[in-house]
Amino acid sequence: MSDTEFPLVQFMREGFDPVAELARIRTEQPIFPMEIPGGSTVWLATRYDDVRSVLGDSDRFSNDFGNITGMGSNQEDPGGLGFRDPPEHTRLRKFLTPEFTMRRLKRLEPRIEAIVEEHLDRMAAQGSETDLVQAFALPIPSLVVCELLGVPYDERADFLRLSTDRFDFTAGPEASLQAINDAMTYLTDLVARERKNPGDGLLGMLLREHGDEIDDRILASMADGLLTGGHDTSTSMLALGTLWLLHNPEQAARVRDEDGYVVQVVEELLRYMTVVQVAFPRFAKEDMELGGQQIAKGEMVLCSLTAANRDPALGRDMDSVLPEREVAASHVAFGHGLHRCIGAPLAQMEMRIAFPALLRRFPDLRVNGEVPFRKLAIVYGVESLPVAW
Ligand code: HEM
Repeated sequence: MSDTEFPLVQFMREGFDPVAELARIRTEQPIFPMEIPGGSTVWLATRYDDVRSVLGDSDRFSNDFGNITGMGSNQEDPGGLGFRDPPEHTRLRKFLTPEFTMRRLKRLEPRIEAIVEEHLDRMAAQGSETDLVQAFALPIPSLVVCELLGVPYDERADFLRLSTDRFDFTAGPEASLQAINDAMTYLTDLVARERKNPGDGLLGMLLREHGDEIDDRILASMADGLLTGGHDTSTSMLALGTLWLLHNPEQAARVRDEDGYVVQVVEELLRYMTVVQVAFPRFAKEDMELGGQQIAKGEMVLCSLTAANRDPALGRDMDSVLPEREVAASHVAFGHGLHRCIGAPLAQMEMRIAFPALLRRFPDLRVNGEVPFRKLAIVYGVESLPVAW
């Protein structure tokens, strides 16, 4: 196998599964070198243990992109938590942590249920077929983030458009960038308004409790990080999870009829689908050995969460969905270590509410046509999911 033979293998899939080459790399050369233009090497980590040790070691690995742009540290620039190192990462993450405890999130539960029911009503009113991505999987996570942040009701339609346009690459990269800028402009304005008159959402709470420790620009960029982190990911899980359930009617029936069964299914589907295919890039802070491979200071390590979550070292038959498996919860679909997904309990809550509600409302739901999967994607998913009932 040549070093550059599979440079994009970590972003490819065949249906629900990683491509076969990824499993071969994991067996034959688990820390895989990929030459990138400019002559530097990026290492692809594919084994579960190696991925956990990279993600769990913020002493030896940095998330700071300044490492490759050569422009020095980016710690002062806007951008989500994923590109920041301690102590700045610790400082900012500490503000958000209390907002993601189960106690705080419980407050959102009835709102998520209402958002889900509203969309099911709309689907029912619309006829007997739809694209489930547009009708359900896309708007729900976005409205949940609105609810979390405290975006006013009459501004949600516009906000929803901004948050979906950035992921619509059909209009070209400029349109996507424009949508990101527009979202930042909107969020900066929202933060300024919340500062004057703090509401009940996350922004209002943060400003009330820590308003003097955090400036508007950073807060807007953290809000944007929550939007980008919580939107496409949950959309993909809702769509892929539904597709899998429709292919597995016995499991769908259990999710529909047995209280609590969905909890296990969601956890195992998170592992199996691993929609976030690679973690944020990590940069070696020193020369080191990783999984038997020498890595030089400054080199980038990409952790393939997809490969790690299917690693046979994690358990038996990792290419199957076995909701009863005990190791399900040790998957790395949310990452691991300091940067582990802060929104994990919220995403789990969304799915635990959405899947049974959908299957109860439309017990005869079925796939109704070709399902186009994304081709090369950091966040894997489907372009559309035609369904009928
Ligand atoms: C199924 C849904 C989701 C999946 C699979 C997912 C997955 C991930 C992964 C893999 C990481 C990176 C871990 C790393 O590089 O070490 C991450 C980070 C993050 N996620 Fe999620 N996520 C989901 C939903 C959400 C939601 C709902 C939110 C918030 C509303 C969110 C906010 C974030 C943030 C802010 C980070 C950065 C954390 C940090 O760097 O400290 N995510 N997520």
